[in-house]
Amino acid sequence: MSDIDLSVEIAGVKFRNPILTASGTFGYGEEFNEYIDLSRIGGIITKSVTRYPRPGHKPPRTFETSSGMLNAIGLANVGIDRFIEEKIPFLRTLDTNVIVNVAGFSLDEYVEVVRRLNDADGISMLEINISCPNVGADGLEFSSSETSAHKLTAELKKISRYPLIIKLSPNVTDIAAIAVACEDAGADALSLINTLVGMAINHYTFKPMLTNTTGGLSGPAIKPVALACVMKVYRCVKIPIIGIGGIMDHFDVAQFFIAGATAVEFGTANFVNPNCTVDAVEGIRDYLRDMNIATITDLIGRLRD
Ligand SMILES: Cc1cc2nc3c(=O)[nH]c(=O)nc-3n(C[C@H](O)[C@H](O)[C@H](O)COP(=O)(O)O)c2cc1C
Repeated sequence: MSDIDLSVEIAGVKFRNPILTASGTFGYGEEFNEYIDLSRIGGIITKSVTRYPRPGHKPPRTFETSSGMLNAIGLANVGIDRFIEEKIPFLRTLDTNVIVNVAGFSLDEYVEVVRRLNDADGISMLEINISCPNVGADGLEFSSSETSAHKLTAELKKISRYPLIIKLSPNVTDIAAIAVACEDAGADALSLINTLVGMAINHYTFKPMLTNTTGGLSGPAIKPVALACVMKVYRCVKIPIIGIGGIMDHFDVAQFFIAGATAVEFGTANFVNPNCTVDAVEGIRDYLRDMNIATITDLIGRLRD
């Protein structure tokens, strides 16, 4: 079988293959441009952008754990003004899909950032990071209740020029219920999972390893959790799911598709091998050929009992 079709479509946006980079692990794309051929992957997702620039938490803000890492970067980013002025001109030149990840600490902040992005070109979709505390309301994360996830999605859907991917947190009682609320509110796609809350302690100093005390756990350690979340959400929604969490190679990609994903994001893997996404594009092609499957979309949700 020679012509393997790796293309996928999400909310009318065509991807040459379903391999994307995860927000916060790939900068604004430029940082990796000299190491990998970005035109060979399906798309890149930029670091979360907020209304105002943020320096983030004080270091140490990352710590390696067994089969993964903790991070408490604190959403360090250049803010929407500099993003549009300094980052969009480069992103517009790329021959791949650019997905801009948006974060905020109130409904108004998300709305403002999304409005600003409406005027920018060279963007395929927005990914909304809802794992932020709503300081304007109850202090809970937008991702932690069906009501707040629904409200945020519905408000952004009203004003966004671009299709919306809502990025879900695993730090909730029932991720499928939040997924359904986002779908009901008009989300075009869902991505999952963001990091799991964790911590590490220095047993000599009795201090946490991260200045922020807790951080988000990512990498291979979270893959089984992520796969289960994708499988559960796939059984409850009709919109496409983008799988994230501990994906290191093309076999992981295949497993997320079988669980129900239509595309995947590589995060922590970029720190181990900056070329992991391009390698996975080649790998998944060989895997599909070996499995006698001509079209990658034929793998979606093929989990057997
Ligand atoms: C250092 C670091 C920074 C991150 N920053 C963001 C961010 O700004 N916005 C976001 O939505 N997710 C962020 N994430 C979460 C990743 O996009 C991804 O959801 C998570 O790491 C799980 O995937 P992985 O196991 O492949 O890394 C960050 C992850 C890491 C490791």
